[in-house]
Amino acid sequence: KTKNLEERVKSVIRDVQDFPKPGILFKDITPILLHPSLLQEMVAAMANQFKDVKVDAVAGIESRGYLFGVLLAQKLQVPFIMIRKEGKLPAKTINESYDLEYGSATIEVHEDAITKGSHVLIHDDLLATGGTAVAAANLIQQKAHVAGFSFVIDLTFLEGSKKLKEIQPIIKSLIT
Ligand code: PRP
Ligand code: MG
Repeated sequence: KTKNLEERVKSVIRDVQDFPKPGILFKDITPILLHPSLLQEMVAAMANQFKDVKVDAVAGIESRGYLFGVLLAQKLQVPFIMIRKEGKLPAKTINESYDLEYGSATIEVHEDAITKGSHVLIHDDLLATGGTAVAAANLIQQKAHVAGFSFVIDLTFLEGSKKLKEIQPIIKSLIT
């Protein structure tokens, strides 16, 4: 019997022990990119998760959120918005700062990339604690609405979706 998509994606994701620090089991998604037909199927499945949701644009979070995010936007036939780490975007930006384990970080987006009042789907490769996605949502909400959240992987044991639910309960991932 042919394995379902979730099983096939899981079998391609590589577990790397002790990266980037001892005790961390890193989920390496880079091998997915070596399998173009699997990637195509994944993008179609992710787009299908939002078929009944109003999505005017997809915003991807630097850097791994770009890999699937731009393909998802293309599949949905909507614009793709780059959310970048601080200091990378050349034109006028809006910014959002958030706390990390040690210190803080800032993300930003070109102000004219977001249509006022539009419905923006936030995409990233991985939902862990949810800190990054919450910051992205707060950034989008300065001008627009969060249509939903899309991830390839949800590390459910970290309960990141609990934080996101209060912002927008439409939270989809391909695998958990
Ligand atoms: C990883 C991952 C998510 C984020 C999830 O990105 O790609 O963006 O962490 O973590 P959180 O839910 O706990 O916030 P990372 O910061 O490693 O950068 P990269 O995408 O540029 O590799
Ligand atoms: Mg990332």
